[in-house]
Amino acid sequence: MPSYNDEIHIHDHDEIVEDSNPTNNPEFADLLVSRRSILKGGAGLMTSAFFGGLSLSALAQPDAIKEHLKRPSKLKFSAVPHHMGEDMLVADGYRAEMILPMGTPIVDGVGEWTDDRMVLGESFKYRMGDNHDGMWFFGLKDGRYAPEVSERGLLAMNHEYTNPNLNPIENYTIDDPAAPKIYQKRRLASDVRREIHAHGVSVVELKRTPTGYELVKNSPFNKRYTSGTPTRLSGVAKGHDFVKTKIDPKGLSSVGINNQCGAGLSPWGTYLTTEENFLNVFARGADKHIIGDDNDKRAARYGLKENKIGDSSYSWHTPADGHQGEFDHWDVTAQQSSILATDDHRNTFNTFGYITEIDPFSPSSQAVKRTSLGRFAHENCAFAPPVENEPLVFYMGDDARGEYIYKFVSQAKWSNADIGKGLSAGDKYLDKGTLYAAVFHENGTGEWRELSKQNPLLSDFKDDAEIAIFARMAADKLGATKMDRPEWVSVSPVTQEVYVTLTNNSKRKQEDVNAANPRSYDGKGNKHGHIIRFAERQGQAGNQFVWDIYLFAAPHDKDEENLSGLTAENDLSAPDGLFFDPRGVLWIQTDDGAYTDTTNCMLLAALPNKVGDGTMITTSAGMTTHMGAFTTPDTLKRFFVGPKGCEVTGITMTPDCKALLINIQHPEGRFGAVKGGKTPRSATVVITKKDGGVILAESFA
Ligand code: FEO
Ligand code: CA
Ligand code: CA
Ligand code: CA
Repeated sequence: MPSYNDEIHIHDHDEIVEDSNPTNNPEFADLLVSRRSILKGGAGLMTSAFFGGLSLSALAQPDAIKEHLKRPSKLKFSAVPHHMGEDMLVADGYRAEMILPMGTPIVDGVGEWTDDRMVLGESFKYRMGDNHDGMWFFGLKDGRYAPEVSERGLLAMNHEYTNPNLNPIENYTIDDPAAPKIYQKRRLASDVRREIHAHGVSVVELKRTPTGYELVKNSPFNKRYTSGTPTRLSGVAKGHDFVKTKIDPKGLSSVGINNQCGAGLSPWGTYLTTEENFLNVFARGADKHIIGDDNDKRAARYGLKENKIGDSSYSWHTPADGHQGEFDHWDVTAQQSSILATDDHRNTFNTFGYITEIDPFSPSSQAVKRTSLGRFAHENCAFAPPVENEPLVFYMGDDARGEYIYKFVSQAKWSNADIGKGLSAGDKYLDKGTLYAAVFHENGTGEWRELSKQNPLLSDFKDDAEIAIFARMAADKLGATKMDRPEWVSVSPVTQEVYVTLTNNSKRKQEDVNAANPRSYDGKGNKHGHIIRFAERQGQAGNQFVWDIYLFAAPHDKDEENLSGLTAENDLSAPDGLFFDPRGVLWIQTDDGAYTDTTNCMLLAALPNKVGDGTMITTSAGMTTHMGAFTTPDTLKRFFVGPKGCEVTGITMTPDCKALLINIQHPEGRFGAVKGGKTPRSATVVITKKDGGVILAESFA
């Protein structure tokens, strides 16, 4: 076995953003619906909301609402200033406590994380993984889901990817010039095992302390799901030829879960996690002559071209010192035309890229990939407030440059009796339904176009399974609008309107701007990102909506870019994480590289109003579009700033609204390091009020 003294190649891997949409889909569709027809269209309430500019006070609260569930009308905490330190800052009167740093053992029998990073890779099956991301707090009582309980809970959390500093030596590879092209830089089995098991999801029990929450070590609920944990395939693509592999020739399972990014709750109380940049852990050699042009196009549409290693710093297929067959499936090259697809790993790639359901209360059950919700770089999945006897509606973004926004409408009608029924409820609501892609028209309307065999535009697809597995290609055919990297989605519990962060798009050219993605400047595309929102016009499951741009992110002192009236108290760049708390307060998190010369990434609180409360504006790229009301520090304010180098992501609130949990991903400096150590670590931060009150209580006064 080679030693660490061999030649070392340094190549960083940060989150790699994919760019695989070759279509000429319009960045917005033609004017199919005129503004006049909206006015005629009848949807009276929405019409007045769209044009009327309702005030915040119009969003009246029911009289009997619980005190802690009131929505403030004005943000009254003092704004946290720009900050570039290695520590974190939170608004006055609040405390921020770090818990669950990467490597924390969740059961006995596994040693503490050590700063030399030598812990065994397999031990991550029992430790917190790396790069904490989306999460959800599930109240726990008597071993069951208790949505009202805050004292104890299960925290389900994503570990999105791994930083090179997870391993004893960063970016260590061994040259093997005689090997096939995609094997010439080999990695050590021990490093790859560490990475495989530091990805995925953690479920841990937490209990309240006087200042926050702590891990209940050895709880029977504590469990890791990793990129090496077999996972059930369910829904329309289950058993389809395109997901049959050497490891599972029946196409009923996947070898693991990968690149869990945003996350959320299901209406019945399970955890909906995601698979985003799964491309990065796969490699593909030269096999177009074996699989043919059509399959080559399918792989390429998901970023995997011939002779390509997704992100070369993973290279999980390369160790020469692993067990027989241990890493083979990360190389998805078709081996020979004479053999069946189930004799090699060519289809393993197709078993990744799904919304994945986990029941935190059932540690003996497998995670389930819900294929009917489509395969793409899933950021998160947010449901509209369920209505008894109506279908459920889920919204999702595909986070890559120029990709689409989707929604899924369940075939089954919602019943409140299904709360607490775990994965069997998931089988009922997530396996059958209809997927749609969004088209944003220039006139402020939009429509959902159906991704199914019912749609004559999709006659080239053999069946609905093929449409789901290659959802991007189906959406291409429907002329879906190419967006500036759709990240998190959240639905307002007050207005039911849907908000989507469009984090940035360095490749948005000035000539390609459209009304929904209207900015490109400084030769750097849409550098700071924006948040779009829409209101359904025919009920949540319908196919028409109206939209506007809620917020343009920008430095406050850059006139040309600062279209939303931001000040030093609330300016931001690259919005990403997004979460409406139960009161309708919108929390916005940033994952930024464009304003970090002024401030680290942050968390802001916002009190948005409604689609149509603003005006028309024209961007510096010359695009006129629909924008929401200007913000003020009363309606948008910086609440927290993270440590240097980090992304602030993942957010959940306890049912009593007394704790807000967020994640700090890939910090620099010594944030999260063991005492006296120097390896910074991702970790969770619990924010509570020093007086024990409700988060934002000062804003009710
Ligand atoms: Fe994992 Fe799109 O952020
Ligand atoms: Ca990230
Ligand atoms: Ca994100
Ligand atoms: Ca991001």
